[in-house]
Amino acid sequence: PELAQAFIDEQVAAIREQVGDKKVLLALSGGVDSSVVAALLIKAIGKNLVCVHVNHGLMRKGESEQVIDVFQNQMDANLVYVDATDRFLDLLAGVDEPETKRKIIGGEFIRVFEEEARKVDDEVDFLAQGTIYPDILESQDGVKAHHNVGGLPDDLQFDLVEPVKLLFKDEVRVVGRELGLPESMVERQPFPGPGLGVRCLGAITRDRLEALREADAIVREEMEAANVGAWQYFAVVPDMRATGVRDGERAYEWPAIIRAINTVDVMTAEVPELDWALLKRMTDRITHEVPGICRVAYDLTPKPVGTVEWE
Ligand code: XMP
Repeated sequence: PELAQAFIDEQVAAIREQVGDKKVLLALSGGVDSSVVAALLIKAIGKNLVCVHVNHGLMRKGESEQVIDVFQNQMDANLVYVDATDRFLDLLAGVDEPETKRKIIGGEFIRVFEEEARKVDDEVDFLAQGTIYPDILESQDGVKAHHNVGGLPDDLQFDLVEPVKLLFKDEVRVVGRELGLPESMVERQPFPGPGLGVRCLGAITRDRLEALREADAIVREEMEAANVGAWQYFAVVPDMRATGVRDGERAYEWPAIIRAINTVDVMTAEVPELDWALLKRMTDRITHEVPGICRVAYDLTPKPVGTVEWE
């Protein structure tokens, strides 16, 4: 905590030195890195930080609400909330190929953010990013080109503010805690950029997406209550139906798949041996509380040969 406080003081001074009384723009997803960068910049320059939260309609239950609650209500930040749900879901309608879905979501995200950036372009000189040290290492290795908000057009360029770029994830969490961010945000499990879009398998429909969001919330709630501590855990809902019986009548509804993994390097992953009572509780709750789901399966596949995500 003392080291974290020293780091915070040092970065606050460095940020003030770098940006003076200019404005800074940040794409705030609500993930650990962008949230910690936001909290640091709010401490350093207050309302001169313009946070943009794009809700692509593929967030988990309560996530966008938490971003608004923490940053707008508690930290009194300058937050632009963009509900772009319809734009994303309209573009995705009927699209079932996973990589095409990813491209559509990624491309539209840049466009929505670009539109917001143009609205404030005259006043803003800097772009803050939640780049962390492993991102830089991976880019150098050529494993992947890392851009948190890559792809902005050439006429829309900013100087970068990257206050946590020398930190590892665990250190970012310590700093976030010291800055007063809630534990649920600081300890948030990794969530892919395309969000629930790659867990609502095949062509996304609004009703099935909603069922997925509810099932996923139950999985997270029960896994957290049972203190399982798995690295990543979530629900998946495929685009097929299964037969069941509900109140004496034939039901024909979606199955939900529970996915949980432990990993050190993400290249390989193991499936935890979940407690039977926990699995039964999740099954019972999902099939009774989520409209449209009549069956639950637990995915036992390690990586390889299964990837973590189903798409
Ligand atoms: P896979 O499915 O490749 O997942 O075994 C490994 C890790 O990467 C995450 N993941 C993504 N993250 N955009 C992201 O930002 C993506 O398109 C994406 N696909 C997978 C996945 O959640 C897991 O942590």
